[in-house]
Amino acid sequence: MKVLVVGKGGREHALVWKLAQSPRAERVFCAPGNAGTAEDGVNVPIEANDFDRLVSFVRKEKIDLTVVGPEEPLSLGIVDRFQKLGLRIFGPTKTAAQLESSKVFAKSLMRHADVPTADFRIFDHPEHARRYIGTRDYPLVVKADGLAAGKGVLVCSTNEEALAAIERVMVREEFGLAAGRQVVVEKRLEGEELSILALVSGRIIVPLQPTQDHKAAFDGDTGPNTGGMGAYCPAPLGTTELLDAIDRDILVPTVHAMKRRRQPFRGVLYAGVMTTNQGPRVLEYNCRFGDPETQPLLVRLRTDLLDLLEAVVDERLDTFEGKLEWDERPAVCVVMASGGYPGNHAKGLPIYGLAEAAKLPDVKVFHAGTVREGDRVLTDGGRVLGVTALGDTLADAQRRAYEAVALIQFRDAHYRRDIADKALRPLAPPSEKAPATVE
Ligand code: AMP
Ligand code: GLY
Repeated sequence: MKVLVVGKGGREHALVWKLAQSPRAERVFCAPGNAGTAEDGVNVPIEANDFDRLVSFVRKEKIDLTVVGPEEPLSLGIVDRFQKLGLRIFGPTKTAAQLESSKVFAKSLMRHADVPTADFRIFDHPEHARRYIGTRDYPLVVKADGLAAGKGVLVCSTNEEALAAIERVMVREEFGLAAGRQVVVEKRLEGEELSILALVSGRIIVPLQPTQDHKAAFDGDTGPNTGGMGAYCPAPLGTTELLDAIDRDILVPTVHAMKRRRQPFRGVLYAGVMTTNQGPRVLEYNCRFGDPETQPLLVRLRTDLLDLLEAVVDERLDTFEGKLEWDERPAVCVVMASGGYPGNHAKGLPIYGLAEAAKLPDVKVFHAGTVREGDRVLTDGGRVLGVTALGDTLADAQRRAYEAVALIQFRDAHYRRDIADKALRPLAPPSEKAPATVE
């Protein structure tokens, strides 16, 4: 089989790397890819949103399966386009992808399907939103409706901050015209976040192991939100009891509601869940693999990923129910980013030490924003590498990941030093625990 992965981040490198291990994969292409996907697969210089050229390539090369990494091409309808032409593709249709591309769609679905989430109201006029927030308790969260590269979510501690958020989203349209047409205003939830990714095809749901991301830029969860600074798998927070509750109260009703609306979901359904004192609550849905969650997930997955993704596309996912195989060992991924990320950052800086890090056993350095120039690898984006290691224990995986990080250098490299600490710390004594969320 010939496979094409669409995208160019760390998630796509992990997908290419894992798909290439399938005995049935003859060649794995990546469009447009990065320096890492060029090592484990073959790069094709076509951007992820250039559907015309992707279709021509797939037809010319007789690609058997296309796998879409990022949300943007999904929300623009890449799957609808391919399906209409009879080309096999992994991912949800444009309407199903609204679970991620429209927060209004997602929250309304949760309300109708009785999926636990923060209490909310939707507004399409700034004056109504202003009046409402004047009557609420704080903290509040103001969310732009559409895709905003993770930046359209504003946590507000005071009325002034909430008024400023409404101004930015709806009046100044900082996150785009379409994204700012409607806002969701909701309660801020307290607790720890868990990423639950599940393969979904029709009514069949096969959850992957729980992972935990680190969204904030700096240690101790401080600083601005990013795409994710590191992740580990499995997340011990995801006890059997909690995962059962998430399956029963979140995944099943969501997938059924999509079917009832005649918008069946096919692909990866990713629920960002806050574990509150009252139980799990959905913060957001994504309609694709998480980045960097995919990196520690796929180094642990033993099942052939190509078989699995094909089963989703061909609606045979039931053959994998309860049958996924995992490496017992935990994995930790530490993201090395460009100095300044998620704000302005330099590009084109040489990266040293990749060959030395590659020699460490059970370590895989996934590339994100990198580009090859002659025999050098240069930085080419905000998140540059996802240094991922397996270990006998989570502490061991963490130590090995940081050992590899220490071998890699580029100017102004920034990474968090506390990835997975959360899962290793003993539980805080009761007096230090966060106060109960009042709903
Ligand atoms: P979203 O794009 O809706 O997932 O929001 C991005 C991030 O903002 C989430 O991963 C959370 O860290 C945070 N967030 C969103 N909604 C809430 C909420 N209601 N309470 C607390 N944090 C939130
Ligand atoms: N790591 C968060 C995301 O993929 O959206």
